[in-house]
Amino acid sequence: MRSWLYRKAERYDKMLSWLHGDTVGRRFGLIASIVGEGQRVLDLGAGTCRLAAFLHPSCRYIGAELNPTFRAHAEARGIETIELNVFDFDRYPTDVDVLVAGDLLHHLIPNVGDFLRGIGRLKIPRIVVCESYPYGASVLTRILGPILDNDGINNLPARIRHHLFDEFTERRLRDEMTAALADREARFELLSERSEPGKEKRGWDTMVASFMRREKKA
Ligand SMILES: C[S@@+](CC[C@H](N)C(=O)[O-])C[C@H]1O[C@@H](n2cnc3c(N)ncnc32)[C@H](O)[C@@H]1O
Repeated sequence: MRSWLYRKAERYDKMLSWLHGDTVGRRFGLIASIVGEGQRVLDLGAGTCRLAAFLHPSCRYIGAELNPTFRAHAEARGIETIELNVFDFDRYPTDVDVLVAGDLLHHLIPNVGDFLRGIGRLKIPRIVVCESYPYGASVLTRILGPILDNDGINNLPARIRHHLFDEFTERRLRDEMTAALADREARFELLSERSEPGKEKRGWDTMVASFMRREKKA
């Protein structure tokens, strides 16, 4: 069953800003700058489709999401969405230049590798992945985090197990993405919330990675 967080779009947006502060705006701005102008963008696990407002007006945006409340919220604001399970690779729209997966990977545990390899096989030229990971999380946070973050779609026990014993780290994310998308050119950027280095014990980092299809030599 979907948690309290995923039942109201406004609540989800407020919580995201509370958790990540100004890096939320910076992360969407960075993704938008990587995407550029005139691109057809498919946002996978789009949530409330906040990315749409950051993209250049010449881009076409579609938010792919399974949460009907989030989709209705976006559609009411004139944003195009589709009901799509991100593992249904055959059902992805084909007229797309860039796939974006923003804070989606941790929901897909333990199938992150299958997802990345699946999108990597598509002909779509560019993939942008953005993922946040906590540093210094307490055991309580590691258990309560996935429960609060339960989208009602994915495997909650697997997520709790993972957060307890095998957390995402920068190195882990880089390795997993680079291995799954090995035939693409990779670029990584990090956004940190450590406003006063050395003072904060807990917080988040956010990685934005882009993967460009290599042109096949003739
Ligand atoms: C943490 S939210 C991220 C939302 C948005 N991308 C952002 O950056 O704010 C993850 C979203 O992925 C959606 N999601 C999870 N698994 C999915 C799946 N298999 N297919 C489609 N959407 C999924 C959830 O409903 C949730 O809204």
